[in-house]
Amino acid sequence: MSQTLLKATSVAHSFDYKLFSDIDFDLQEQESIAILGRSGCGKSTLLHIFSSFIAPDEGEVHLLGHNLYGLKEEELEAIRCNDLGIIFQAHYLFKGMKAVENLEIATILSGESVEDKLLERLEIKELMNQKIGELSGGQQQRISIARVLSKKPKIIFADEPTGNLDKETGNLVMSVLLEYIQKNNAGMVLVTHDESMANLCNKRYLLENRALEAF
Ligand SMILES: Nc1ncnc2c1ncn2[C@@H]1O[C@H](COP(=O)(O)OP(=O)(O)OP(=O)(O)O)[C@@H](O)[C@H]1O
Ligand SMILES: [Mg+2]
Repeated sequence: MSQTLLKATSVAHSFDYKLFSDIDFDLQEQESIAILGRSGCGKSTLLHIFSSFIAPDEGEVHLLGHNLYGLKEEELEAIRCNDLGIIFQAHYLFKGMKAVENLEIATILSGESVEDKLLERLEIKELMNQKIGELSGGQQQRISIARVLSKKPKIIFADEPTGNLDKETGNLVMSVLLEYIQKNNAGMVLVTHDESMANLCNKRYLLENRALEAF
């Protein structure tokens, strides 16, 4: 039976105004779920709540069997480092270092190794000896996706991972991510504005009127 990777219950959060309430959500192994919604409706905030970065005003998030917001900061750090693959809107690569060095940082920390095949699939193998600052935005994005996958995470949280890629490269990145979760019994929560990317996922939800609805 497949394991529940993430289970959120009755989640609510406000900043200046109420973003959402009563959000229930769960993610199983090998499952990919897309979240869509208008700009500013709270998608990134919800992804940050699911992925250990923002404690919600109300509700609980259980991730890989842990009650996330009952944990100490060191325990959260360990889960982020070992089990989560975070692909957020800003990618945190070290600009002065080579692409290959950026990948090695992640794999040394997690005890994994960088697979040549992954670099070939993402069409970045030839870029390994270039400095990050010399690469295009879309090349940097693919390096950061390779870095995340090289860690072998159990859950991928991706916020617009194909946002600044052309359609062909966007499809390539999506197929690499989807193959990864199948092969590794992982799961993915993806925020996107692109319905064709959302359609490649197993489930789609719309965040609208402060609620999350399947569609
Ligand atoms: N740390 C914060 N402090 C105060 N307000 C915040 C914070 N983060 C987000 N907000 C506000 O919450 C609202 C939702 O932001 P969020 O980034 O979750 O939207 P989004 O749905 O991801 O939008 P987009 O599609 O443009 O990325 C916005 O009005 C934003 O200004
Ligand atoms: Mg956002």
